[in-house]
Amino acid sequence: MKINIVEHPLIAHKLTLLRDKNTNSPTFRQLTEELVTLLAYEATRDISVVPINIETPVSKTSGYELSAPPPVVVPILRAGLGMLEGMAKLIPTAEIGFLGMIRDHDTLQPSTYANRLPEDLTGRQCFILDPMLATGGTLIAAINFLFDKGARDITAIAILAAPEGIAAVEKAFADKNLPITIVAGSLDEKLNEKGYIVPGLGDAGDRLYGVV
Ligand code: URA
Repeated sequence: MKINIVEHPLIAHKLTLLRDKNTNSPTFRQLTEELVTLLAYEATRDISVVPINIETPVSKTSGYELSAPPPVVVPILRAGLGMLEGMAKLIPTAEIGFLGMIRDHDTLQPSTYANRLPEDLTGRQCFILDPMLATGGTLIAAINFLFDKGARDITAIAILAAPEGIAAVEKAFADKNLPITIVAGSLDEKLNEKGYIVPGLGDAGDRLYGVV
């Protein structure tokens, strides 16, 4: 498993604004979109391309285009939705699948309440979007779900990650040698007793969409 905590001054700047409790929802959504685009640039380093021949107005040349079938982007509802636009801007031809997962506030265990994905993901590169890698439970369940459907490789993009979450995902797939990459904008300090990332940014879904 590969872990990439992306260090970049623009990411650090935008993350600091995102964390600030005084940042309102519209600004939070805008920053999330911008952060995802920056993280997605790193997360797509191994995206599959094929060589093609084209003609410029000046001469013949060769280049690359994304392989078919296109990658599948899977935002985890609800907070992952806030990351979709930034990712879709970078890969407009990607197919989008949805996975609704919620974690129980007491047990912190995830359960799936919605699933809109192609039945067969054989050979497909998948990108999971979930802003907060906290306990890792949701991500582990989502990764298992996609590999069970045949995914070729999986890259998870998180805005923030907790060491506990990274360790849990590493442990869950330690002996399986599966192509999994985690890309995050920051490795924070720890989880608190309620499963929130510290210093974190609070509840990402609430901050994106309000408390409902
Ligand atoms: N989910 C969130 O929205 N925030 C956290 O800090 C942890 C999980």
